[in-house]
Amino acid sequence: MSVIRIKASTEYDVNIERGLLDSAGRLIAEALGKKQAAAAIKTECACGTEADKKQEEQGALGTAAVIADDTVFALYGSRVCDSLCKAGFRVVSFTFAPGEQSKSLATYEKILYFLAENHITRSDFLVALGGGITGDITGFAAATYLRGVRFVQIPTTLLAAVDSSVGGKTAINLGTGKNQVGSFYQPTLVICDPDTLKTLPEDEYLCGCAEVIKYGILGNEPFFRSLKKTHIKEQEENVIETCVAMKSNIVADDEFDRGKRQLLNLGHTIGHAVEAASDFAVLHGQAVAIGMAVIARAAAAKGFCTAETRDEIIEILNMYGLPSAADFPLADMYSAALADKKVSGKKINLIVPQRIGECIIETTDVENLKDWMRAGGIK
Ligand code: NAD
Ligand code: GLY
Repeated sequence: MSVIRIKASTEYDVNIERGLLDSAGRLIAEALGKKQAAAAIKTECACGTEADKKQEEQGALGTAAVIADDTVFALYGSRVCDSLCKAGFRVVSFTFAPGEQSKSLATYEKILYFLAENHITRSDFLVALGGGITGDITGFAAATYLRGVRFVQIPTTLLAAVDSSVGGKTAINLGTGKNQVGSFYQPTLVICDPDTLKTLPEDEYLCGCAEVIKYGILGNEPFFRSLKKTHIKEQEENVIETCVAMKSNIVADDEFDRGKRQLLNLGHTIGHAVEAASDFAVLHGQAVAIGMAVIARAAAAKGFCTAETRDEIIEILNMYGLPSAADFPLADMYSAALADKKVSGKKINLIVPQRIGECIIETTDVENLKDWMRAGGIK
């Protein structure tokens, strides 16, 4: 098992290994510092059944509230719940419809009521089983319910494995923009089982590839070159470990997004605008790919990088079958981008490539964003 330590205000491990899902209960018990009761539990475990009630009577270690979307729960819910039960936890589960539309106040409210109705206390914890949407909304519920309960991330998408499950950004969307409500709240543990990626639909896998490519562009040229030579699917564990290690360094230096961490937003200002303008028909990772291509074109046009760097960025996106252009009107894109968290007063921070492996934070007047978009090919 590969273990990467995240040195944020709360330190925790990211455990990466194929098949780890079945060890989730034991790993979580260890991370929470709970003595395992597994040996004491003789009944066959089945969540929500008599066996579950017996555990409660026997004085289980506490309750795990597993949160997942319907698709992920159907695929992996029982394995994770069984593992938790076997380790001695009472398990309750909440599921919601997949998709960005669910990262909403309405789902968040339902989760809070679910936690309260199931008597989740501060000695209990939440498990985010799924992609970035599940991780973001579960993390935000964990951060705010009872002023904070612990939570564990179990990413099941490539995007969540390499990015969203690590670093403690939690959020929900408002009708007016992406991630407009949220907090920095670190998980207690991340359990990454790359085997779960085998069931991920191709377009969702590619969304993760966009975030992986992002890491290469923003700070790791050799890694970028390796992604051109060997497909991410053929070096999955290496890719996850490299990205998590990079994120670990970034978060250790700038947990609260005041400087260096903003580099991880490469492609995101335009990307979030694409998501909003498409009413979320364009997936997050696809939108980030478009955002990176637009900013690369604009950077070359404005002399921040060479045409060669721009072409390399667009080429790798195309190589992975990712989009590099969108035809939403400039006015729609601009107004959507104004809701972005990266807008501060009348200024916005854009992440601009200078060469492969090096990006800068360019602070510009918000009104200049239209010009950047135009230079990047948005009409
Ligand atoms: P997601 O959570 O919606 O998952 C994508 C889809 O794949 C869903 O339909 C889901 O049901 C399905 N799925 C998940 N795992 C599966 C599996 N193993 N097998 C089969 N199907 C599976 O989306 P995502 O792309 O993981 O995350 C996108 C979200 O993450 C966005 O809301 C974005 O804003 C957020 N994000 C957050 C951070 C952060 O640092 N917090 C970073 C990047 C992105
Ligand atoms: N995904 C961007 C960040 O964690 O900062």
